[in-house]
Amino acid sequence: MDRYEQSSCMPSPTPLINLHGFEAAAADVLPRMVYDYYAGGANDELLLGSARTAWNDLTLRYRVLRDVSERSQRTEVLGHTLDWPVFVAPMAFQQLAHADGEVATAQAAERTGAGMILSTLSNRTIEAVRAGTTGPLWFQLYIYRDRGITAELVQRAQRAGCTALVLTVDAPLLGRRERDLLNGFHLPPDVSVPNLGVALRATLAGGTDATASPTSALAEFFDRHWDPSISWRDLAWLQSITTLPILVKGVVRGDDALLAIEHGAAGVIVSNHGGRQLDTAIATARALPEVVNAIDGRGAVLVDGGIRRGTDVLKALAMGAQAVLLGRPVLWGLAVNGQHGAQQVLQLLKSECDLALALAGCRTPTDVTRDLLG
Ligand code: FNR
Ligand code: LAC
Repeated sequence: MDRYEQSSCMPSPTPLINLHGFEAAAADVLPRMVYDYYAGGANDELLLGSARTAWNDLTLRYRVLRDVSERSQRTEVLGHTLDWPVFVAPMAFQQLAHADGEVATAQAAERTGAGMILSTLSNRTIEAVRAGTTGPLWFQLYIYRDRGITAELVQRAQRAGCTALVLTVDAPLLGRRERDLLNGFHLPPDVSVPNLGVALRATLAGGTDATASPTSALAEFFDRHWDPSISWRDLAWLQSITTLPILVKGVVRGDDALLAIEHGAAGVIVSNHGGRQLDTAIATARALPEVVNAIDGRGAVLVDGGIRRGTDVLKALAMGAQAVLLGRPVLWGLAVNGQHGAQQVLQLLKSECDLALALAGCRTPTDVTRDLLG
C-alpha cells in the first residue's frame, strides 16, 4: 500500500482551482494503469467528449433582481435530506487511488453534505464504509450469474444499514476498454474486493497466462461472473428479496424509464456509465428531458456523466433531475490527497453550484425551473 500513500503526498504543480485541475494533478501521481482505468472509456472514447459538450451547449436564461442574499441548496431525495443535490457515483476499486479507499470517499461525502453510492466492487467492506460515516449510503449492485451471491450481497447491504439499492443495468457485458486491455489491468495483491467470496476475487488479481493476448482482469471477471441474460424479470426478483427502494442506473430512454417504474423501481439514474460501455451513446444531458417527461413525477430521476461545473448541476436540476452523481473527479481528489482531497473536490463543486444558482436568480433548488434553459 506504501506506493499509494507515498504518491498521494507528492506535491503537484497543477493549480487545484477547479475539477479539471484535480484530474491533471491525479494524472501526475497515479500509476498509468490506474489513471487509465479511472479516466478511460469504451472504444474511441467519443462519449467522454460528447458528454461534456452536451452540458456545455445548454445555455442559461438567468433571472435578475431576485434577492439571492439568503440561499440554501438543501434537497430531498427518496426521503434523505442532502445539503446539496449531489451523490458520489458508485465507482469500483477506490484503494487504487488511496489506501483509505471508499471509507475516505464516504467521509468526504458526509462532510460536504452529499450522499454516497458504494460500488459492489469496493475495496473496503460495506460494513466498514457504513461504520465510517453517518451520511446517506446506497449500495450499487450487479446481478451475478449466481443469484445466491447476489441475494447475499443485498441482504448484507440491507443489514449494514444502506438505505437504497442501485441496480446498474447498462453493463450486461463489459464495454471494450482498450486502455485496460493494453495495460493488462488487474488488482495488485494488496488490493482486494472484500464484498465478494474468495473464488470470485481471484479473477481480479489478473491472468496467469503470459502468452495470452492483451487482456483486462476486469473483463475476464465480467465474462465469468456477471449475467448477460438479465432482464426486467430480474428487477421483479430483486424486489421480492428486499424491502429497500431500488433505483435503476443506466437508463437513457423514456420507455425504459417507464418500464422501470412499472416494475416497481423507486426511480432511475440517467447514465451511460460515464462513457465506459456503449461508445457514441446519447449524452445524458440530451437524454434527461425525455426521461423526466416519461416518469412524470412517479419516481426519482438522477443523472450523471461529465458533470464538472456548478452550472452543469444547475442545468440538470432545470431539466427536472432531483440530484446528480459525480464520478471521476472524486477519484482525482482521493488520489491527490485522500479524504481531504475528495472533500476539496466536492466542496469546490458545491461552491460553484451555490454561485450558479445565485447568478441564475435562484435561492433554492425549488426556484430552478425549466425556463432557465434556452
Ligand atoms: C464507474 N462507474 C460504475 N458504475 C456502477 O454502477 N458500478 C461501478 O462499479 C462503477 N465503477 C466505475 C469505476 C470507475 C473508475 C468509473 C470512472 C466509473 C460509473 C459511474 O458510476 C458513473 O456512472 C460515471 O462515472 C459518471 O460519469 P463521470 O462523472 O465520471 O463523468
Ligand atoms: C467499471 C465497472 C466496474 O465501469 O462498473 O469499471
